[in-house]
Amino acid sequence: MPHSSAHPLDDPLADPFDIAAQAAADIARLSGIERHDIAVTLGSGWGEAAGLIGTTNAEFPATEVTGFSRPALEGHVGSLRSITTPRGRNVLVIGARTHFYEGHGARRVVHSVRTAAATGARIMVLTNGAGGIRHTWRPGQPVLISDHINLTGASPLEGATFIDLTDLYSLRLRDIAHSIDPSLQEGVYCQFRGPQYETPAEVNMAKLIGGHIVGMSTALEAIAAREAGMEVLGLSLITNLAAGIKATPLSHQEVIEAGKAAGPVISSLLARVIEAI
Ligand code: HPA
Repeated sequence: MPHSSAHPLDDPLADPFDIAAQAAADIARLSGIERHDIAVTLGSGWGEAAGLIGTTNAEFPATEVTGFSRPALEGHVGSLRSITTPRGRNVLVIGARTHFYEGHGARRVVHSVRTAAATGARIMVLTNGAGGIRHTWRPGQPVLISDHINLTGASPLEGATFIDLTDLYSLRLRDIAHSIDPSLQEGVYCQFRGPQYETPAEVNMAKLIGGHIVGMSTALEAIAAREAGMEVLGLSLITNLAAGIKATPLSHQEVIEAGKAAGPVISSLLARVIEAI
């Protein structure tokens, strides 16, 4: 099934929660772990955290799991990893993200989140690399997401599914993160569709409507996590100041480099937060 050309989530008659349940059964079989407690999606810069969270039970290519797409970036095979923390909690680490800009629709974007929920996870930690709007922020700085503005025009919810998002980014989990690192600042994440970076005018708009962080991934995933009843923690690594906030042009290379440089510090922060939640 995962290798067939017709994608199971593209069948309009398919129930995405059934497919997520199948994916969770694949993960139980491949990892030998029946239930996971916490799920973490690792975005740009956060990859090293997996090695710090605990003991790895199993790691496998995401393409072995029902409904996970082939990676968007050439040469980058996303993987899933099952880890047990020193305190004995099972963490599903998702190193494979489908972005909305790939054009496959919101169902595929949030499949990993629905799968995480189907493995039993009650907490979803979403990390990303993003642009910073606050001029006092510096590349390499991690910030907590306090709320979001979804500028994609899309939703992962299907039908008349009215979900309250008043406290989407859990205050409880943010308090725990602050207790680990009191210097952590918070901001409102604006999700653009991408894949182009924003224009300075778009960044200015995001600032005027109350945004502090610009990115291309997390809002749709957070909505799906809430729909699934999970508690959400969002962490952005500021890889660059957003377009127009700094004078020079943005480059993908710069974003990758900032992630690499900050990797050790933010990964250890993430591992400590996960151990505390
Ligand atoms: N904008 C949107 N997404 C991003 C950025 C940005 O400036 N940096 C890293 N991801």
